[in-house]
Amino acid sequence: MAQDSSANSRRKFIATTASISAAATMVHSSSEVKASAEETIRIGIVGCGGRGTGALNDSFSTNDNVKLVAASDLYANKCANTITQISRRHPDKVDVAPDRVYDGLEGYKKILERSDIDLVFLTTSPGFRPYHILETVEAGKHVFAEKPSCVDPAGYRVCLKADQLAKKNQTGIVTGTQYRRQANYIGAIEEIRKGIIGNIVSAQSRYCSTGIWYRNRKEGMSDAEYQLNNWMHFIWLSGDQIAEQAVHNIDAMNWVMGSNPLTAYGSGGRFTRPDDSEMWDNVSIDYVYPGNKTLSFMCRQIPGSKSDNGNVVYGSEGICHIGAMSRGSYITDYDGKKIWEQAGSIGDAYKQEHKDLVDSIRAGKPIVELKQTADSSLTAVMGRMAAYTGQEVTWDFLTKESKLDLYPKNLAWDGELPKPQHAIPGTTKLI
Ligand SMILES: NC(=O)c1ccc[n+]([C@@H]2O[C@H](COP(=O)([O-])OP(=O)(O)OC[C@H]3O[C@@H](n4cnc5c(N)ncnc54)[C@H](O)[C@@H]3O)[C@@H](O)[C@H]2O)c1
Repeated sequence: MAQDSSANSRRKFIATTASISAAATMVHSSSEVKASAEETIRIGIVGCGGRGTGALNDSFSTNDNVKLVAASDLYANKCANTITQISRRHPDKVDVAPDRVYDGLEGYKKILERSDIDLVFLTTSPGFRPYHILETVEAGKHVFAEKPSCVDPAGYRVCLKADQLAKKNQTGIVTGTQYRRQANYIGAIEEIRKGIIGNIVSAQSRYCSTGIWYRNRKEGMSDAEYQLNNWMHFIWLSGDQIAEQAVHNIDAMNWVMGSNPLTAYGSGGRFTRPDDSEMWDNVSIDYVYPGNKTLSFMCRQIPGSKSDNGNVVYGSEGICHIGAMSRGSYITDYDGKKIWEQAGSIGDAYKQEHKDLVDSIRAGKPIVELKQTADSSLTAVMGRMAAYTGQEVTWDFLTKESKLDLYPKNLAWDGELPKPQHAIPGTTKLI
């Protein structure tokens, strides 16, 4: 197809062609739909690490007529690695000329400036996410953005703005919460809604695993390069494990409860992290939802400790177990008799979110789900802030008053950053 003069006109072309074709098929042949499905959706990626590469593979394994045409990362060799890996698996779906590879902190802007890109994958470390999403939406492009959507209330507000703008402009945002598309999660929550366990009384959710990577500081690295490279350990970049990893389970619990929580109270600490890591090893949070429903939530990353990753919902008449990864779901009555069960594959769910995004773009009705995932990300932040400060934190405070903004004021590749500091309850202020 000849290039359009702007991203908007190209995006509208794909959507309009799709909906005209879809309508036409109802009364005519299927050839028009085929034509619209053959319109290539051109993709740029920002963040060529493990998940970025994985997300491209998931999309390309399930979607036809999608193509990677540009890549950006802090490091050009990370782009090259992703391009090589994806080219091997999907040779017809990669066409990245060397002048469409952009490195450095500002490289992503070059992707957003291109009028021939329809959809951008945002798969960097989380600290950049709200700002990258908003800029991408402002550039008129569809978004796939990994979770978490934000790591602080300032980022949450940026997400809300991006969500509204995407809805207004009819550009899609799908957000990397794959469990929302996993058969055993969908099935279990449908059963709960139908009343199979009676009224929800409380829930328990755990994301407990062993250790996580730590990337040593190399000779000559500035503070910024070191922290960007070792991002998990700095809260402005990762949000700590509760936001970076356990947000999956928190998102499932908000979905079960049908609401964000009202309050969080919690505790935790650090025993095994390297000295300069700001991460804690574990937190346990009690969340209270409307109707006085409580969630007992725990996450932990300690080498040698027992892993447990799943969710249990207690009702007045039964108990629903929703297993993470591909463990499936089942429901028992209070005598322990299994009354329902369903399998589910996380691999299928990872692909389904990309199918849904592309299908919705082609149908001219792009999915915009950012608010839901921003809410879950802020729920994780709420738990972290409760544990870090030792105070009870309310949803109202976070959304109306909190001034917490972790993004560094003058971020530059060669720049200095404040000395890392981990939180100490009773001393760390609630702001
Ligand atoms: N949905 C899931 O199950 C799932 C699984 C794993 C990771 N994730 C999420 O995916 C994201 C990435 O995780 P990962 O494991 O791929 O990390 P990673 O370190 O492997 O990759 C991140 C990449 O982003 C690049 N990057 C960082 N800042 C950048 C910037 N400003 N501009 C351009 N590139 C930048 C880094 O150089 C790196 O190559 C995280 O938010 C993580 O939570 C989601």
